[in-house]
Amino acid sequence: MGTTTCGELVTTSAAETEAAGERLARHLRHGDLVLLVGDLGAGKTTLVRGMARGLGSSAEVMSPTFQLVRVYPGRVQLAHVDLYRLAGLDELADLGLEELLDEGAVVVEWGERLGGPATARISLEVLEEDRRRLRLEEAPPTWSW
Ligand SMILES: Nc1ncnc2c1ncn2[C@@H]1O[C@H](COP(=O)(O)OP(=O)(O)OP(=O)(O)O)[C@@H](O)[C@H]1O
Ligand SMILES: [Mg+2]
Repeated sequence: MGTTTCGELVTTSAAETEAAGERLARHLRHGDLVLLVGDLGAGKTTLVRGMARGLGSSAEVMSPTFQLVRVYPGRVQLAHVDLYRLAGLDELADLGLEELLDEGAVVVEWGERLGGPATARISLEVLEEDRRRLRLEEAPPTWSW
């Protein structure tokens, strides 16, 4: 278990980041939009893998490289969006974000490319090879690691 200080968690392995995602999933509700912000390899997909598992999905979670979005069924459906290869605003419109939010929760890698209001904004920072700092930059007051 990593160290927690008000909305901040330092993990020392991918498994710990995944476990953090799994715990965070308890807070997820229909219509929640969660933006993940962090460099390549920061652990965004790892966190999403935990979130999906926490929602009860047994689907394999990988970066949706060739699709913009992948959908995992669970207690709350989780749509996993990755905007790394976003080509333009047309593609964002095609994503059908409103529909996905009608159907469940949505988590977005490279979330800073989306803009607009969100339920939560989480940053992931590489500290060392296996250490990552996860921060709830914006989140409902009930959310914690
Ligand atoms: N504490 C940690 N938390 C998360 N991942 C870690 C940690 N320590 C090492 N890693 C490794 O870092 C990598 C994180 O990859 P991941 O795909 O989750 O990152 P990402 O932010 O989604 O990257 P990308 O921008 O390419 O989508 C994995 O290889 C994982 O094993
Ligand atoms: Mg990723």
